Amino acid sequence: MSVDLKSLVRTIPDYPKKGILFRDITTLIEDPKGFRESIRRIADAHRDGAFTHVAGIEARGFIFGAGVAIELGAGFVPIRKRGKLPGETIGQNYVLEYGVDTIEIHANVLNANHRVLLVDDLIATGGTAIAAISLLRRTGAVADDAAFVIDLPDLGGADKLRAENVNIQALIE
Ligand code: PRP
Ligand code: ADE
Repeated sequence: MSVDLKSLVRTIPDYPKKGILFRDITTLIEDPKGFRESIRRIADAHRDGAFTHVAGIEARGFIFGAGVAIELGAGFVPIRKRGKLPGETIGQNYVLEYGVDTIEIHANVLNANHRVLLVDDLIATGGTAIAAISLLRRTGAVADDAAFVIDLPDLGGADKLRAENVNIQALIE
């Protein structure tokens, strides 16, 4: 029987700021079947995509992205918050549901020979994911696909990403 992933996500009101309903995936990944099933469903939807790399967004995107990369036999590219990568980087500023930040990847890793699947735990306003897709595309790589465990459709992020010609998979709304 398939696992009810939605029932494994916990909601915490007023975190990290008043008015935010925080969708907490720690309860999902603490459940062995839920964790495995999340990664399997994302990988299954992308097995024929010839992805050379999976890019995961720090920090929660690493949890799912690394598993998907292993399943697809792809490399893993960490998209990190500012100042965490030791080599030469390229970066992109962005606004998310509850703040502003900068993400970075190492320069000279991806190029036009590469096809990248973006993975994150959640899309809300889409600020983070759009910045990540822009960053990946600036390298010349094809970055036309993104997968999320959770989409919060009322916040419009997935629609904004589709408007950038990105194909989206979300396991839970
Ligand atoms: C969360 C989440 C997404 C982003 C979604 O990350 O993991 O990356 O917010 O929000 P948006 O669609 O409004 O941009 P956060 O920056 O809180 O970092 P974390 O993974 O380190 O907790
Ligand atoms: N990232 C942005 N908005 C979020 C939310 N409502 N819950 C969990 N993570 C988030």
